[in-house]
Parts: sequence; C-alpha cells; structure tokens
Amino acid sequence: MENEKTNEKRIMLTGDRPTGKLHIGHYVGSLRRRVELQNQGDFDEMYVMIADTQALTDNAGNPQKVRDNVIEVALDYLSAGLDPTKTTIFVQSHVPVLFELTGYYLGLVTLSSLERNPTVKSELAMRQFQDSSIPAGFLCYPVSQAADITAFDANIVPVGEDQAPMIEQANEIVHKFNSLYGDTLTPCKIMLPENEACKRLPGIDGKAKMSKSLGNCIYLSDDRKTVSKKVMTMFTDPTHLKIEDPGHTENNPVFIYLSAFVQDYHFEKYLPQYHNFEELKAHYERGGLGDVTVKRFLADVINDVLDPIRARRKELEADIPSVYKILQEGSLKAQEKAHETVMRVRRALGVNYFENRKLIEKQSKAFK
Ligand code: TRP
Repeated sequence: MENEKTNEKRIMLTGDRPTGKLHIGHYVGSLRRRVELQNQGDFDEMYVMIADTQALTDNAGNPQKVRDNVIEVALDYLSAGLDPTKTTIFVQSHVPVLFELTGYYLGLVTLSSLERNPTVKSELAMRQFQDSSIPAGFLCYPVSQAADITAFDANIVPVGEDQAPMIEQANEIVHKFNSLYGDTLTPCKIMLPENEACKRLPGIDGKAKMSKSLGNCIYLSDDRKTVSKKVMTMFTDPTHLKIEDPGHTENNPVFIYLSAFVQDYHFEKYLPQYHNFEELKAHYERGGLGDVTVKRFLADVINDVLDPIRARRKELEADIPSVYKILQEGSLKAQEKAHETVMRVRRALGVNYFENRKLIEKQSKAFK
C-alpha cells in the first residue's frame, strides 16, 4: 500500500502468555531462535513481551496463576540467554497505551472477523467455553495483539504457525487504519521456525503437542534426573519390538527430539560409534539399534543443552528482586517507545486536542 509507513529499521517483537513454565518445545520453537537473533545483532530493536493481559482474558478466575508465571517465564527467558541489555523484556500490563491502541483498533474490526479467527476458535473449543460464556476480551485478543505489534513498529514477528491468523489480523488493521487516516502504522511479517521438528515438538507420549494439561512436557527448569526419567518413558516406534526389527524414525518422538537438539559434537561426546544423525537414523531404520540406547543418548543430549540454562537459572533464582527490576526497567523502556506511536495515532485520529494549537485557535474564533 502506498500510504503505509515504510520502516527502514528492523524491529522484532514477540511474546508469550505466562500460563506455565516454558518447556523444551518453546525452546526449540522460539526461544533458542530469539537468543540467536539477539546475538547475531540483525535487528535494530528487539522486544520480548510477557503477555499477562492476554493471559488474563481467559484466566479471569485465576489471576494468581498468571502472576506466578510472570516470574517463571522471566527466569526462563533470562536463563535461556535473552540479555536485557540487547532485548527489551517487558510486561504487557505495564504498558498502558497498549489498551488505548486496542480501544481505537476495536472500531476497525468486525465481530464476524473475530469469530472466524481459526486459532481463537480452536482455543475456545479446547477450553470448552459455551457460546454464552465466551469472555469478550478473549474473542478480541487478536486486536490487542495487533496493538502489541504496531505499538513498537515491529516489522518482524517470530511466532509459531498457530499465530499466523493474528499477524493477518494485525496487518488488516494496519491497512484499514492507514487507508482511513494516512500513513501511520507499520505492517509486519511473520517469521516461522526453520525446521519441521522445531515448529511443533510432540509430547513425550507421542501426542501432537506438548502441553501442560496433558502432562507430557519436559520443562526447561527440569533437573537432569527428571529429564532422563521422562525420556526413558517416551513413546517410540510401536512396531519396533525386537532390537533386530527395522524401526521407523518418522513420527517417532525420540527421533523428532533428536533432530531438534542434536549436533555432531554430541556424537563424539556421548555416542562415538556414530558420526552424525544420519548414521544413527540409518542404523535404527535398518534394525539392530535398540530404543534404550537411543533414549539414553537423547537424555544426554537434552541435558547437555539444558545444563548451562540450569546454571544461569540457579544464579537468577538467588536474586529474584533483580529479575523484577529487569522487568520493570524493560517495561519503562517499552512505555517510552509505545508512547511515540500512540502520539502518532492520536494525531492521525485527531484526538490530540491539547497539543493542537491550530484547532484550539480555530475553534476559539468559531465560537466568538
Ligand atoms: N498470542 C501469543 C501466544 O499465545 C502471545 C502474544 C501476545 C504475542 N502478544 C503478542 C506474540 C505479540 C507475538 C506478538 O503465545
């Protein structure tokens, strides 16, 4: 669109609802990438938001759960390597202009488009809301998510596939706003995880998704023993009964996890009879490689990746006040940035009354 704000800067924004501790699915699906992007320095600005307001839209009866998970998610972020000097980490509820933007945008969106949002629809089904008990705020969260993104002029939003409808909704709002009020808001692009395994890690039980309510997660904060125990109970190829039987690596969670985590150095370190993942896979498919061997290796690999994360978490847990301080400072920084956008939006809408000298003069004359 010609009247769209062209943004020369590369600005990234993403976030998570604080409804549980982060698991290794979050790690390979998003967190690891954010840390890489941060350390490569590809972006001019990076924002990572703890979406407590969004979490409250369907947890109104349990604010305690949301509150307790704000610190859990912050600990997960920082221990995984997000660096507050490079990435602004902030809490959604503490950037009040996001509510203001949401308010303006709600006038640009139809109820029927919200009701059609496929992700919201499946979330509603999962939470078993009856039609008459759907919280309005939950139905509208895609609009508040558009506010989150546009408030920071973010043009890259790294999220999972399930969030694609939110990015579409945000861009619809951007186009509508810009065509009605002139070039004001920045459109954004989704950035999906690179490989299939990382898009959606299955649960340890082989179910399609790792989820807290299914109890099939490995958490970033699990200790070594817990990880090993969980890996040893993992679902594998049900047709691979005897070691000699040929095995399937496709749709086999153990191999999916390996493809998301393993690097060549892990073979040298833990399983030197193979050089790389391809060799291991070929042996399993041919037959003669037992599940226990592969699972032990997987536990070693995951623990190797999680060890430095655990060590940082321990340090951070010893000083919780500084973690809150990081969130508070991040939220202040985020407020400053979002305030600039909201001023632009107020001007575009003409609700910037008190700074609009011309308007005040004109009306003074008109009322004389
Ligand atoms: N909806 C996202 C989730 O459930 C969280 C989120 C809120 C978000 N606002 C955002 C993600 C803005 C990206 C950009 O995980």
